[in-house]
Amino acid sequence: MQDTSSKRDKMQIQIDNLKFAYTSTEILKDITLDLTGPKFVSIMGPNGVGKSTLIHCINKILTPTDGSVLLDGKDVKEITIKEIAKNIGYVPYSANDTFPLSVVDTVLMGRHPHSSWKSLDKDLDIVYDTLSMLGISHLAMRNFNELSAGQHQKVMLARGLVQEPKILLLDEPTSNLDVRHQLDVTKMLKRLSVEKEILIIMISHDINIAAKFSDEIIMMHQGGIYAVGTPNEVITPENLQVVYGVESRIVDDGGAPHVILQDAIPMDVTDIDSVRSPTMAQALRTRAESEEDTEQA
Ligand SMILES: Nc1ncnc2c1ncn2[C@@H]1O[C@H](COP(=O)(O)OP(=O)(O)OP(=O)(O)O)[C@@H](O)[C@H]1O
Ligand SMILES: [Mg+2]
Repeated sequence: MQDTSSKRDKMQIQIDNLKFAYTSTEILKDITLDLTGPKFVSIMGPNGVGKSTLIHCINKILTPTDGSVLLDGKDVKEITIKEIAKNIGYVPYSANDTFPLSVVDTVLMGRHPHSSWKSLDKDLDIVYDTLSMLGISHLAMRNFNELSAGQHQKVMLARGLVQEPKILLLDEPTSNLDVRHQLDVTKMLKRLSVEKEILIIMISHDINIAAKFSDEIIMMHQGGIYAVGTPNEVITPENLQVVYGVESRIVDDGGAPHVILQDAIPMDVTDIDSVRSPTMAQALRTRAESEEDTEQA
């Protein structure tokens, strides 16, 4: 990758009372967050809680129904998409993202915000350096559509990195990688956040890897922020119980919390009011009532 060792401007995302709804149901409820980099931040939370929706509101793929997102103090509403792409790299959850292009051309697309007619050689150098850093130089001439899921994921990561953004948003970038590559990629992201001074925000379901390498964890629950802090502050049995409905214990892994899962908490002892599906909530209420009747009989 190109050397960007000079000190960058500050990089800050301020989210203020953000709300978002795709339909009449509110998905994001009053999100307020202040993220100032460089640092490595992980967003966690159950399926469907709104993690991808939140990062889509940050990079202007979606427009919040209320509240604001400020990028270095400026409302993203007033920033052009090209300017956003110069500052914010985005690595989507890529399972369905396919391009009928070679790997080099796919990654080169990430240089688009910086490109001019005379910059192709420099852009190609950056692309090849990044493929090499990710250990996928051998895939350069392959067709993107013919790669495995894990190889796709690394190519999409390369496409985000060649943007040389101040902020990098990644939606489950290691979900298709084997354990060795999950570790390698997460460590590399942590290193890049320091060396290239990037504010990296990664959505992840891998609590233990995220806890080991993140500077900060954001835990989402029911469309809001439930906890923000260091891994040791956020990854606690109490929080995991409320947010995921699992019992766990935490062991110390060289200063980072490591979760040992004990069991899922049976649905009938969780807080029924927190169950989102009306049908499921009603079914649980009916079951609870019938159990009460049985006890009284
Ligand atoms: N385009 C859409 N139209 C309507 N509803 C949507 C749309 N995209 C997502 N949703 C809904 O919004 C909610 C949040 O979705 P989102 O993709 O942000 O969840 P997530 O936290 O990223 O989940 P996961 O861990 O499964 O990726 C879900 O209930 C989902 O069904
Ligand atoms: Mg998602």
